[in-house]
Amino acid sequence: MVLTWVEILLLGLACCLFIRSTWNSMYKDRNLPPGPTPLPFIGNLLQIERGQMAKSLMKLWKKYGDVYTLYFGSSPVIVICGYQAVKEALVDQGEEFGARGNLATINKFTQGYGIVFSNGERWRTMRNFTLRNLRSFGMGKKSIEGKIQEEAQYLVEEFKNPKGMPLNPSKNIISAVSNVLCSIIFGNRFEYTDERFFKLLKIVEEICSLTSSSWGQLQNIFPTLMDYVPGPHQKICSISEELNQFIYERVQKNQETLDPESPRDFIDNFLIKLQEEQQNPASQFNMRNIMMTFYTLFLAGAETSTTVLKHSLLILVTYPEIQANVHKEIDQVIGRGRAPNYNDRAKMPYTEAVIHEILRFADIVPLNVPHMVTKDTTFRGFSIPKGIEVHPILCSVHRDPTQFANPYKFDPNHFLDENGSFKRHEAMMAFSAGKRICLGESLARMEIFVFLTTILQNFTLTSQKKFSEADITPRMGGFVNAPIPYEISFICRQ
Ligand code: HEM
Repeated sequence: MVLTWVEILLLGLACCLFIRSTWNSMYKDRNLPPGPTPLPFIGNLLQIERGQMAKSLMKLWKKYGDVYTLYFGSSPVIVICGYQAVKEALVDQGEEFGARGNLATINKFTQGYGIVFSNGERWRTMRNFTLRNLRSFGMGKKSIEGKIQEEAQYLVEEFKNPKGMPLNPSKNIISAVSNVLCSIIFGNRFEYTDERFFKLLKIVEEICSLTSSSWGQLQNIFPTLMDYVPGPHQKICSISEELNQFIYERVQKNQETLDPESPRDFIDNFLIKLQEEQQNPASQFNMRNIMMTFYTLFLAGAETSTTVLKHSLLILVTYPEIQANVHKEIDQVIGRGRAPNYNDRAKMPYTEAVIHEILRFADIVPLNVPHMVTKDTTFRGFSIPKGIEVHPILCSVHRDPTQFANPYKFDPNHFLDENGSFKRHEAMMAFSAGKRICLGESLARMEIFVFLTTILQNFTLTSQKKFSEADITPRMGGFVNAPIPYEISFICRQ
């Protein structure tokens, strides 16, 4: 059938009217924030460059302002950018913006159980219980500091082995960071050569890299549609099941030898609570919540701190003068005769500033984890209906020109005052803010400080390849901002 020009014109007009009326009913009439006009079925997919979600959202920020609406398929989501707006939402209106949205890649497996993807009473119970337990097993205290110091020494031995030959430090770093988590959750560490441990780490890495891939991003935008599309994202559930199996075997082992009078680790405490609440049908302490809590703790805790340390080493090789300043401070405050501890940071303003700048610049979780409003909410004059997903974009806070003098440059001066003292900055939100703020923040901060200062106490980091500013600039490709793969040399300090 061949259409005449008049028919083509009429068809075009009908399409425009359809799009306009859909747009009016979907967005304009509802007093949602402004945003690009969505197309039927695909929403604003065309506004998002392939594999460049963060960059695309930053561009739209410039065009539509701090709060705008995007359509993921036919569902509107609210995007919040810049320090002031993100703070107003997460902190000033924390109650309304405190629920969790959907990250389909992971939530397809967790189904709203555990901590990270749960809401309401389940989230409150799991978060409070986990926080209490992480603290009782040493998070933020001396006892866990001892474990981190011990692990840092293993790391130093690993880096001494190649005698200055270049190596990619990724595997050693994720082993050290995960061992700290294992000590808390399972009560023991693993040898770096342990095959089962190695497999566990590969699983964690693969889940994170698939979630960050273009496939993973598409799944998060079109959860239902992507369920039917073949691709690597389909593997996330099956490999998550392998991680779950590893955890389940440990839970069973603990159950067989459980002594309620003397809990050995976090798993024991959970099992004791499970026993106590057996008769309560409304209890949140069930096997599913236990398993998903450990699963998400592992995912949230292993890859993030590892990624910060990987960025740190690359940045310090790229800027030898910054590395030399940190060396100087370590030599003055700690010396070579004892292990660094977390309290040292109070006397090390330059090192503190470098670490904060790494957390800002590297933007580990650039898009944050999606939030959701708990009730109909008014925000900056717009109406956001209950249940709508909200994305408070952390990379927009870290690149906010009203907060940082050189937002796109690595510059420790962002965190130093004119006297060279460390200057805290509210717009450093690597751990987010408000009710959902990262639960492992104090553990992560301690790990990063102790691991990094121990490495620099022992080594000068060098590389034959000259890394440029472009090499260290975060790629903002996906969910977790991984640095480029690299090799560096660990030269023992005299
Ligand atoms: C440098 C390392 C880390 C960074 C940059 C980081 C960042 C984040 C971010 C951005 C969120 C989302 C907050 C929000 O929804 O507003 C988050 C949540 C979370 N993080 Fe971390 N994190 C790190 C390390 C850790 C560690 C070591 C653990 C565990 C021991 C952990 C456990 C969690 C948990 C359980 C949540 C969910 C909190 C909730 O929904 O209530 N994180 N983290």
